Amino acid sequence: MDLTAPYVPDLDSIPAGLDLVAEIQRLKRARKAVLLAHYYQEPEIQDLADFVGDSLQLSQQAAKADAEVIVFCGVHFMAETAKILNPTKTVVIPDLDAGCSLADRCPADFFAEWLKQYPDHDVVSYINCSAGVKALSTVICTSSNAVRVVESIPADRKIVFAPDRHLGTWVMQQTGRKMALFPGFCIVHEQFTAKRLAALKAQHPDAKLIAHPECDASVNQLADFVGSTAALLNFVAKDPAKAFIVATEAGILHQMHQRRPEVELIPAPVDSGCNCSLCPYMKLNSLEKLYLCLRDLKPDIRLDEPLRLRALKPLERMLALG
Ligand code: 13P
Ligand code: SF4
Repeated sequence: MDLTAPYVPDLDSIPAGLDLVAEIQRLKRARKAVLLAHYYQEPEIQDLADFVGDSLQLSQQAAKADAEVIVFCGVHFMAETAKILNPTKTVVIPDLDAGCSLADRCPADFFAEWLKQYPDHDVVSYINCSAGVKALSTVICTSSNAVRVVESIPADRKIVFAPDRHLGTWVMQQTGRKMALFPGFCIVHEQFTAKRLAALKAQHPDAKLIAHPECDASVNQLADFVGSTAALLNFVAKDPAKAFIVATEAGILHQMHQRRPEVELIPAPVDSGCNCSLCPYMKLNSLEKLYLCLRDLKPDIRLDEPLRLRALKPLERMLALG
């Protein structure tokens, strides 16, 4: 059971003219807090963070954090994972509504029913899921270690992969392992289409297309490189190309610009007219809400201990793989 109390940030309680950046820095010291931020956060939040990373790096940082408070600027499953791994810390997130389409569309009770079709399977779950789904899993993976995690499972074992069907498809292609896939997807990465990206590639023949494995298989097939946000950042930092088409959430461009200010970074467009390459959940966090959560130490993630212990096991299996 998720015991976190509902909480609505009171933005009107912020004094007019407050220097939010200075106050956040002061409160971070006063609270003995560490600020972890995902690459998809707004640049001003990334710039205030003690550590910016992908899901795997952030869970590793959360597991070893010795600060009294972990402020998780990311989405709910990330903050919840931090609490599972480091339960004695106060873990706060600026906006409790910062969910994830993958986690939200795979509720644990539904997943438990769905799993009944696969009684003798190992369950590999992407970290983008709730504690309840983690508790039903054999091992957790992130986009940066999914191939390694699946390869660690003995060849004679049957595997279910959840909840991202695109990451699952990509892992099947990389490993040659057949897996039963839960039909989930990320609403951001699902928007990129091979047709639109092929046209963009034709306009920028020297640019390399790089994609996150949450994209559709047709996009990944077209890409020059597929990897997690940290792997994409690394690729841009080291590759000699002078232009990159980036098929993932546009928040990652901030760090890419810092590493390679001289290269052209082209955010992959989506087929609809909206700004769908921005994750609406990640973007719920703001400097104002970050200030409030440091000031009030709310909303803080709370979990029922038996559930936490069941969710911890598959996470520990993942972390043990390095
Ligand atoms: P990574 O952090 O593993 O690249 O995953 C991206 C993502 O969608 C996080 O929700
Ligand atoms: Fe979830 Fe997609 Fe947003 Fe990542 S980008 S948090 S997978 S909805």
